[in-house]
Amino acid sequence: MKKAFIFDLDGVLCFTDKYHYEAWKTIADRLSLPFDEKVNDRLRGVSRMESLEIILSLGGKTYTEDEKVKFAEEKNEAYRKLLENMTPSDVADEVRNTLKELHKCGYKLAIGSSSKNTPLILDRCDLKKYFDAVSDGNNITRSKPDPEVFLKAAEYLGFNSGDCYIVEDAEAGIDAGKAGGFVTIGIGCAAGYEKTDIAIKTFKDILRTAI
Ligand code: BG6
Ligand code: MG
Repeated sequence: MKKAFIFDLDGVLCFTDKYHYEAWKTIADRLSLPFDEKVNDRLRGVSRMESLEIILSLGGKTYTEDEKVKFAEEKNEAYRKLLENMTPSDVADEVRNTLKELHKCGYKLAIGSSSKNTPLILDRCDLKKYFDAVSDGNNITRSKPDPEVFLKAAEYLGFNSGDCYIVEDAEAGIDAGKAGGFVTIGIGCAAGYEKTDIAIKTFKDILRTAI
């Protein structure tokens, strides 16, 4: 039996896509790049700088490293302002109840997110209290699909990857989970991905996996 669940944050526990989209869109529009929600979907689970590279590749121009750093900083500033709109009500009761139930069943729970804004989001949404460990964009050098963020989360919990499930909405996240030797649970976009081990429709379906 597995001992722990490691959850991606954005798109699994809460929904920040619209804020990422809005913040990137301002920059893309200024640079006349054809950024839309379809491209935004490709940014799931991908780090900030890699997301920027994907957006800049929509145009034919090249940019200096300094310009790229400036764009990324600008995006993050706009994004963090938008995150101030988040409140605990942005996390569904279904999510909170499922996390509580998993704890009652004796599982350890961790976060495994590429985002450097994880502490701010956990705070705004009052989510931190459910987790025994947090591994995020601040403690890794390689982003998903590299397994580093999940391996660190397992290590912080004191377990091996074989002891843990990964819960993800992004293909890059499922690839990271598989690369690290985890059993992967896919929700949303990742539920239809061929590499996902267990597909679920709604968050509480995790309980059926766990029992
Ligand atoms: C992931 C999101 O959780 O974090 C990506 O799915 C995002 O879309 C990445 O690019 C990095 O986020 P941040 O907050 O560090 O810019
Ligand atoms: Mg995600």
